Amino acid sequence: MEIILKEKEIKKRVREIARILKKEYKDKNPVVIGVLKGGFVFLADLVREMAIDCTLEFIRLSSYGKKSKIKEEDVKILWDLPLDIEGKDVILIEDIVDTGHTLKFLKNNILKRKPRSLKTVVFLDKYERREVDVDVDIIGFKVPNKFLVGYGLDYNEKFRYFKDVYGLTEEEIERYGK
Ligand code: PRP
Repeated sequence: MEIILKEKEIKKRVREIARILKKEYKDKNPVVIGVLKGGFVFLADLVREMAIDCTLEFIRLSSYGKKSKIKEEDVKILWDLPLDIEGKDVILIEDIVDTGHTLKFLKNNILKRKPRSLKTVVFLDKYERREVDVDVDIIGFKVPNKFLVGYGLDYNEKFRYFKDVYGLTEEEIERYGK
């Protein structure tokens, strides 16, 4: 596998992002929403670096694989938030924005619930693949259009535990796709 991001540079960037968020949210008790499953590692590191009081929640969306999840309308909520976020300051944490359909769906869905504010924080931006316009407030890294695994991202549920981010070769995509 080709290394794309090393643990050390990920840690440095997570610290930078956490510092920005801490400054803005330290007295606001925000609701931090992690998008399962891929966002769990980034979220865990970010929350520990921020080290402020916040309400942690998770949302899980349907994942049909990239072939069939082609439109915002195709995204469905599998596990919804258990609390009302009206009037709250919300920070949404995602692992990756690719075509942008998922994040667009999520932002619209969350904004309908009338939070006081919403900030989107995404670890990786695969910007070359974008199909819809969606603003992201904070991006960890812009990454090339490769199949990426590690730091929460999987291929067939494999490799989420890697501390670095790797790109798979065509041969590896074939091999681990079974
Ligand atoms: C990934 C990622 C985003 C979405 C981004 O989820 O976590 O939610 O795809 O893609 P898009 O910008 O093209 O919509 P995935 O379906 O792989 O599920 P997982 O996080 O549970 O692994």
